[in-house]
Amino acid sequence: EAAEKGGYEHFMLKEINEQPKAVADTLNPRLKDGKVYIEELNMTDEEIIAIKKICIIACGSAYHTGVTAKYIFEGIARIPVEVDLASEFRYRNPILEKDTLVIIVSQSGETADSLAALREAKKRGVKVLGIVNVVGSSIAREADNVMYTWAGPEIAVATTKAYSTQLIAQYLLAIQFAYVRGKISDIELEEMIRDLKRLPDQIELLVNNKEKIQKFANRYIAAKDIFFIGRGIDYAISLEGSLKLKEISYIHSEAYAAGELKHGTISLIEDGTLVTAVLTQEELYQKMISNMVEVRTRGAFVLAITNEGNTDVERAADYVIYIPQTNKYFTNSLAIIPLQLFGYYVSVGKGCDVDKPRNLAKSVTVE
Ligand code: G6P
Repeated sequence: EAAEKGGYEHFMLKEINEQPKAVADTLNPRLKDGKVYIEELNMTDEEIIAIKKICIIACGSAYHTGVTAKYIFEGIARIPVEVDLASEFRYRNPILEKDTLVIIVSQSGETADSLAALREAKKRGVKVLGIVNVVGSSIAREADNVMYTWAGPEIAVATTKAYSTQLIAQYLLAIQFAYVRGKISDIELEEMIRDLKRLPDQIELLVNNKEKIQKFANRYIAAKDIFFIGRGIDYAISLEGSLKLKEISYIHSEAYAAGELKHGTISLIEDGTLVTAVLTQEELYQKMISNMVEVRTRGAFVLAITNEGNTDVERAADYVIYIPQTNKYFTNSLAIIPLQLFGYYVSVGKGCDVDKPRNLAKSVTVE
């Protein structure tokens, strides 16, 4: 096992470090001559133009990538998106009309609820696209078409590199759909592709900054509750940051849409409670800063994760981690890295079983 870990203390840390390559491997084969090509999609331009709705269905972290993707499909391709937890989807008699595209996202391709949702969609005559990491898995075999994420085998129960590649697959789809539907220009396409290509190096930069996160994480190994707040895509990032932390460190954490704070969570803030605020969406900076001030005046310690250059945030935060500049729709790929490292180092600091947290399984094959 030590050999398989390639010199790393845990599979999770190894997999965090493999993200630049996993992202590049998922991206590069689908970029040709300044365009996006997703051959395995098997859809004509006419079929792409005809899509009326997208339903993204998944569990766990894969579901969180769908929450992010909703903002992107709607934002750039202007296609309405519903995101569902697979375990909820088929028990609510979902409305699946013609020209709906169902996307099932799954690392293992074996998650029982996701597979059941796929079968339900097919039964209702709707086209299903699988975004899957394990080649030849059940979801890959049963979907009408499959777009593989090329993360390679993932061993740690808490997903990192598969999650990152699921985001990439959905960015590519959203860009392709937006372009074919005439919602983005050639120049916008060119800029997006340029930013996509920069992601692997930018992720590497953030991964290399691990000592800083480790020092910070060590201060929170005795924390009782930790909160994550964000708006828009940053709310989706918060959901995943919170899950990473709680699943491997056993510290209670919650992600909240920052605007909802005053409807509940704010009463839980005590002196010294850590609140991680993610703010990568420029048009929401000021709203987020007000929310940070709100919790800080109630005693919270605020860790901010924001874009390089947004130094204005320093007046409302106790500690700031900057991420490199990218397209506003791709910030999830960068902001998640310090959050993965934070969860990892809190877990290590507490002496938890990082790669195999109690009660959890890598692939949940029962409903
Ligand atoms: C488990 C794993 C998670 C994963 C979820 C969905 O809970 O621990 O990391 O996100 O299942 O798994 P899938 O294989 O369908 O992506």
